[in-house]
Amino acid sequence: MRYINDKLDRSLSPIGVFDSGYGGLTILEKIKSRLPGYDYIYLGDNARAPYGSRSFDIVYDFTLECVRSLFDMGCPLVILACNTASAKALRSIQQRDLPDIAPDNRVLGVIRPTVERVIDVTKSGHVGVFGTTGTIQSESYPLELKKLSPELIVTGEACPMWVPLVENFESDGDGADYFVKKHIDSLMAKDPAIDTIILGCTHYPHLINKIKKFLPEDVNIIAQGDIVADSLADYLSRHPEMETRLSKKGTSKYITTESESKFAEFGEIFLKEPISVEHIDF
Ligand code: DGL
Repeated sequence: MRYINDKLDRSLSPIGVFDSGYGGLTILEKIKSRLPGYDYIYLGDNARAPYGSRSFDIVYDFTLECVRSLFDMGCPLVILACNTASAKALRSIQQRDLPDIAPDNRVLGVIRPTVERVIDVTKSGHVGVFGTTGTIQSESYPLELKKLSPELIVTGEACPMWVPLVENFESDGDGADYFVKKHIDSLMAKDPAIDTIILGCTHYPHLINKIKKFLPEDVNIIAQGDIVADSLADYLSRHPEMETRLSKKGTSKYITTESESKFAEFGEIFLKEPISVEHIDF
């Protein structure tokens, strides 16, 4: 943390945005265009990604460590822009850790706002979820959806190859066709009545061209960026005690646990603008 501390502007109270790697940039991009005046610190734990196949305890430990770091960097509010972390760590951090480590700070996830949107969209009541193995095994989406609408039929499909396709710049390559079609066919075979699917992983919007190619046209696609951005705007309007704590100079800082240059190269592709990146060690 010493390296980062030297470079921090201590006058700022940014919104922290955390992801296991690059995927959360799809969420940050939408948040920044919805709420451009605020300051942001994005932390990607690229050195330990992917989280998708890791155990509950490991995802929880890594996520808590990253949340603590963002708090130490001055963020009073942290968004877990990662479905796997939201599924496996959010509840424990909110209920068990926050009261001890930072009772006035807040950590929000991406699953709850997403399911709130889904129940307005589905007509058949049959919903499909694409996610990492960890997100699907956690059953977080079916549990949260059924809390809002117990009669929904929710079917999950783990897509372990989709994140590596995106991370290796193969989203629009021919090789992506096989793995995208395979999981769409598998999900729709499990429940042909599905009329709405959730892209329950922050990387998946990068596969949207392939997903649209193979998904039946009448199936609604729920991507999370705008939903999370709208939900955050709503949260801030309902929580002036948090909103007034946040600084508003319109700055963004990018931090990775991996190589700065690699993150900058990939991040610029995601965000379509040059970024400067700093490294952090745990
Ligand atoms: N960002 C993660 C998510 O949204 C996917 C990447 C990973 O497996 O680490 O679930």
